[in-house]
Amino acid sequence: MNPAAPILILDSGVGGLTIHDALRAVLPEAPVLYAADFAGLPYGDKSEAEIAARVCGLLGRMSERFQPRLACIACNTASTIALSMVRDVLAIPVVGTVPAIKPAAAASRSGVVGLLGTAATIRQPYVDRLHAEHGRGTLLLRHAAPELVLAAEASLRGEAVPQDTVAAAVARLRAQPGGAHMDTVVLACTHFPLLSGALQAALGPEVRFVDGAAGIARRIADLTRGQPFAAAPPRFVATGDAATLARYAPALSARGFAPPALF
Ligand code: DGL
Repeated sequence: MNPAAPILILDSGVGGLTIHDALRAVLPEAPVLYAADFAGLPYGDKSEAEIAARVCGLLGRMSERFQPRLACIACNTASTIALSMVRDVLAIPVVGTVPAIKPAAAASRSGVVGLLGTAATIRQPYVDRLHAEHGRGTLLLRHAAPELVLAAEASLRGEAVPQDTVAAAVARLRAQPGGAHMDTVVLACTHFPLLSGALQAALGPEVRFVDGAAGIARRIADLTRGQPFAAAPPRFVATGDAATLARYAPALSARGFAPPALF
């Protein structure tokens, strides 16, 4: 194992930074290459075929170029659609990010759980299966909130989070039958924990959020246990254009990343 071989983290944008942050907490010394597919953002309004082709193609190209030791698809949309296909095409371990329905169902006392994700994620049979197998009979209220993906992206570019947009998304989730009893919400999009303050303000202090970041970080730590790590600042690469990327540079630098680059 080459000690400099990175752990590759892929998302459509900066949502996967929530996984990256959790990973740094358990593996601060691991070399990380974060890839944001800004040219493909948002994934949530694309078809299953488009997302699968894009993610398999990108990860294939990145694996050849950067020789990662492991890939993490830090995106619920891409994982619920393409995880098994990616595992078929890559020769390295692949960790996915799927909605944390199991811990949310275990934590809920009212038995009503919200699921905030992208339109593509909430319609996946993968989500139906997670709910059937691990939902403990809970009522699962699904709501697609693509505007929150854009709000989270904007917040990393230093723009203010529009509280009314967040409040409107939460109101639509809660307006579904049974929503008044919802006590737990699965943040089924890696972008959404970036808005946790605004989401908590909109939902009220009695509603708890669940996301998979800490569990994914632990899984990556397990899969890389005993491997040598060459310490280096995390790298950030992106598809898209240089002007867009430059707007994220201050937030990335504050998180310890080396200056971002296009690939
Ligand atoms: N961060 C991604 C997720 O977890 C999706 C955002 C997008 O629509 O591109 O689902």
